[in-house]
Amino acid sequence: MLRFEHVSYRYPSEDFDIIDDLSFSVEPGSFHCIVGVSGCGKSTIFRLTNGLLQPKAGEITVGGTPIGQLKQYCGYMPQRDLLFPWRTVGQNLALPLELRGGLSRAQVREQVEAALSDVGLAGCGDKRPEELSGGMRQRAAFARTLLTGSDLLLLDEPFSALDFLTRIAMQEWLLAQWQRHKKTILFITHDVEEAVFLSDRVLVVESTPIHTLTPVEVPAAYPRSRECLARPELAELKEQLIAILRKQVTP
Ligand SMILES: Nc1ncnc2c1ncn2[C@@H]1O[C@H](COP(=O)(O)OP(=O)(O)OP(=O)(O)O)[C@@H](O)[C@H]1O
Ligand SMILES: [Mg+2]
Repeated sequence: MLRFEHVSYRYPSEDFDIIDDLSFSVEPGSFHCIVGVSGCGKSTIFRLTNGLLQPKAGEITVGGTPIGQLKQYCGYMPQRDLLFPWRTVGQNLALPLELRGGLSRAQVREQVEAALSDVGLAGCGDKRPEELSGGMRQRAAFARTLLTGSDLLLLDEPFSALDFLTRIAMQEWLLAQWQRHKKTILFITHDVEEAVFLSDRVLVVESTPIHTLTPVEVPAAYPRSRECLARPELAELKEQLIAILRKQVTP
């Protein structure tokens, strides 16, 4: 689905390649979480994947085609939800459809209403983003990402600003959406437990500059419930991941 081949990237103001000869790939329909310490370059990987940044070397392909030749190949949910405050929730969701073009107003309204009810926000289309709770905003931002129609979704720490109970509800909700829509999801998080609960494979950033993403399989079948996190093999995996990441954090 997505492949990085020997990709390097350097921010213009820096004197080193933060992404240095990185290769990895993800299969269609998979759910990968990228974990790594703050500032290690996780969001940079997403900005390269969605074309906001151009690699200085290497190639990024989706479905075998270089991304420069593709349009609308990924839906991106940035680290902050970035719903436009001057647009209603419904107008925010309509944005990717307007950008794509070719739909009548009635068709846009129909798709937006279907997407809102899909994420449990039926009837919220005329509200402003500030009238929604944090979890509702994230669901609206996710619905907008889905409306790009892309099979590849890049979700950058979508739940990190939520309180614990809302976050675990959103995690369960996201897994259900994933199983329903059969998308390929790449999900960035700092939260090791979140990564273990959600993904079939965790990609660990072990050092910066990023040369490799270390793949770690999560030994649990879907559908999952939170009880499975208490299973010894998952509890152990969580501790292993914490140990890898802690090595990079100096108090
Ligand atoms: N536009 C920029 N110009 C120069 N350096 C940048 C720029 N954007 C990010 N960086 C630097 O690149 C590094 C990686 O940034 P990135 O946003 O990819 O980190 P991250 O792993 O997503 O961190 P976090 O978990 O805190 O979101 C950081 O050290 C950051 O300061
Ligand atoms: Mg980031």
